[in-house]
Amino acid sequence: MESMTRYDELKQHLSANQYTWLITGVAGFIGSNLLESLLRLNQKIIGLDNFATGYQRNLDQALADAGRQPGDVDFRFIEGDICDQESCRMACSGVDYVLHQAALGSVPRSIEDPVRTNRANIDGFLNMLVAARDAKVRRFVYAASSSTYGDHPDLPKVEERIGSPLSPYAVTKVVNELYASVFARSYGFRTIGLRYFNIFGKRQDPNGAYAAVIPKWVAGLIAGEAVYINGDGKTSRDFCYIENTVQMNLLAALTEEPEAVDQIYNVALNDRTSLTKLFEMIQQRLIERKPGLAKVEPIYREFRAGDVRHSQADIGKAQRLLGYAPSHRIGEGLDAAMDWYVDALG
Ligand SMILES: NC(=O)c1ccc[n+]([C@@H]2O[C@H](COP(=O)([O-])OP(=O)(O)OC[C@H]3O[C@@H](n4cnc5c(N)ncnc54)[C@H](O)[C@@H]3O)[C@@H](O)[C@H]2O)c1
Repeated sequence: MESMTRYDELKQHLSANQYTWLITGVAGFIGSNLLESLLRLNQKIIGLDNFATGYQRNLDQALADAGRQPGDVDFRFIEGDICDQESCRMACSGVDYVLHQAALGSVPRSIEDPVRTNRANIDGFLNMLVAARDAKVRRFVYAASSSTYGDHPDLPKVEERIGSPLSPYAVTKVVNELYASVFARSYGFRTIGLRYFNIFGKRQDPNGAYAAVIPKWVAGLIAGEAVYINGDGKTSRDFCYIENTVQMNLLAALTEEPEAVDQIYNVALNDRTSLTKLFEMIQQRLIERKPGLAKVEPIYREFRAGDVRHSQADIGKAQRLLGYAPSHRIGEGLDAAMDWYVDALG
């Protein structure tokens, strides 16, 4: 018999023990997937979101996918802004584990409106840290970002070597990490930061100017619109399926290894896919599912400001200290995501 992974053990433990979790940004892509997974494990969840970029439909769908009805007793939703201290305080009350996802994502959005991004991502983050510290939660896990590597040339990226940020968004994520480490030093409040690398999967928003590349292209191809590649197509990313991200959040929340806490981890696959290759992988899967879809060529255009050229993560630290064992490679993740997008978009 194959031995159980750390994640299998964790899921077994959670199924037998109900804790209270706070997910901020619960109406967003990653937050709603965390909600669904925790409901499946019979956990109690409090969700906080102000619908800045999230949707009620994500909450409805997460509940439905977990086999729950609207108004389920295990999920309490608070509509509120993390920039409001009282909302943070209220949301943290009685909570065991915090998974802090609320933030304004997107590099170009932050270039357009650095003040608004700063407010949600730094003021909001600090409010959440203070509220979680005061509520004496067992663990605070937060969404950091691969953008923190900035202009550092090394590949693959290792957690302790970062460069200078290339965008206001990246600054906010660096500052999150600085505050988190200072909270350990100043108050003994020890957290875990997860540097997400291009996460994708169901419920990632395909709409709007700041949509991520995978949902944007999928929606464009399904709608028969032109699809653009910024730059020469050789730009590469370590695309990571949402299930691996959920795994990392739960491993980080429940780890009892002292050396695993007050740490930052890459969340990725240690894989690198160029944009041109990604386009082919998506197109091939869409044609398989909807043979009517015309074979279109992507249109190459200028590079986008603030983007790093290549990105690939070393995941050794997460494997070593948290027992991370990614369940989905990029192709498997795209298969699962595509089923959902074809269903949702047409
Ligand atoms: N998706 C990725 O590839 C990726 C990569 C790196 C980091 N991240 C980080 O992961 C987290 C989740 O991202 P996502 O992809 O799910 O984005 P998302 O936009 O789908 O979700 C973010 C959620 O936070 C909410 N929110 C924003 N500002 C808020 C505020 N002031 N108060 C309360 N709620 C607020 C939004 O309404 C939304 O529901 C973010 O912190 C993001 O920076 C994501």
